[in-house]
Amino acid sequence: MGMQIVSSATGMQRLAKKWQRADVRIGFVPTMGYLHAGHLSLVRTARKRVGKAGKVVVSIYVNPTQFAPTEDLAKYPRDGKRDLKLCRAAGVDAVFTPDDGAMYPGKSLSQQGARATGFSTYVREEELSRRMEGAVRPTHFRGVTTVVAKLFNIVLPNVAVFGQKDYQQATIIRRMVRDLNFPVQIIVAPTLRERDGLALSSRNKFLNEEQRAQATILYHALQATKAAVKQKPVSAARLQADLKKFITAAPLARLDYVEFFDPETLAPIQQVRRGTQMALAVVFDQTRLIDNARL
Ligand code: PAJ
Repeated sequence: MGMQIVSSATGMQRLAKKWQRADVRIGFVPTMGYLHAGHLSLVRTARKRVGKAGKVVVSIYVNPTQFAPTEDLAKYPRDGKRDLKLCRAAGVDAVFTPDDGAMYPGKSLSQQGARATGFSTYVREEELSRRMEGAVRPTHFRGVTTVVAKLFNIVLPNVAVFGQKDYQQATIIRRMVRDLNFPVQIIVAPTLRERDGLALSSRNKFLNEEQRAQATILYHALQATKAAVKQKPVSAARLQADLKKFITAAPLARLDYVEFFDPETLAPIQQVRRGTQMALAVVFDQTRLIDNARL
């Protein structure tokens, strides 16, 4: 049977329940579309987890509640046709492509601030969401946890795969699943990179040639820091000062933050050593890039 394309929540639930009744395992990869090789590597991981007899579902939905009114929701890249082609070629069994009406019934999602008319229930993680991306984008993770909780209730997956690329997001999802007893196993898969080290991202397409060339600075910052703490611990303050200078090698880049933290609790770490998690955000004009690594 060919790939199924489902756009209603009840239609997707019906399909998932049918599979569950037949004891067919469901692997799930949530995305906002404009798929690249990083997304497709998550699809392969999902397939491995559920096996040939299992079903792999990809959701494609640009979730408005995780964008602030000032952010790039309207210009977030979209190419539905190409996405479906890539999913079909990757052996995906079903694509869930809801519209805003299906996901947020009754909610006005205008960029002028969402007035909730018929939609008023959110999922909010209150600890891990505060720092880094959450500090810069205060309502972002509330949107992510809400939509992922909804998607879990719609797709009913046994396994869901997230990318290490969005390390804080994956950690928050793990926490939500534990805290709220979602019966789903979370897998976090490695970051896929371009040959020069730049992490694949749908937003890379906004970089002009010069910015694209300088965007490798994130990867190089991670590599240089890895080398710096290989032999002995270095203070986070010292590394932060060094990295601020290091980033000036890319004159079009502005360092938003660089943080060192415990890989599980995300608690900040003063003495950085091997095994510490590092994350950074760098802005090129309107385009914000993030990356992270275990040192
Ligand atoms: P999106 O940015 O489309 O990413 C979908 C998934 O792909 C996420 O789990 C992300 O971490 C992963 N991913 C992105 N770039 C990757 C790369 N270079 N290598 C490996 N995996 C990569 O993240 C979201 O969408 C949304 O917040 C979502 C979870 C779908 C909720 O709306």
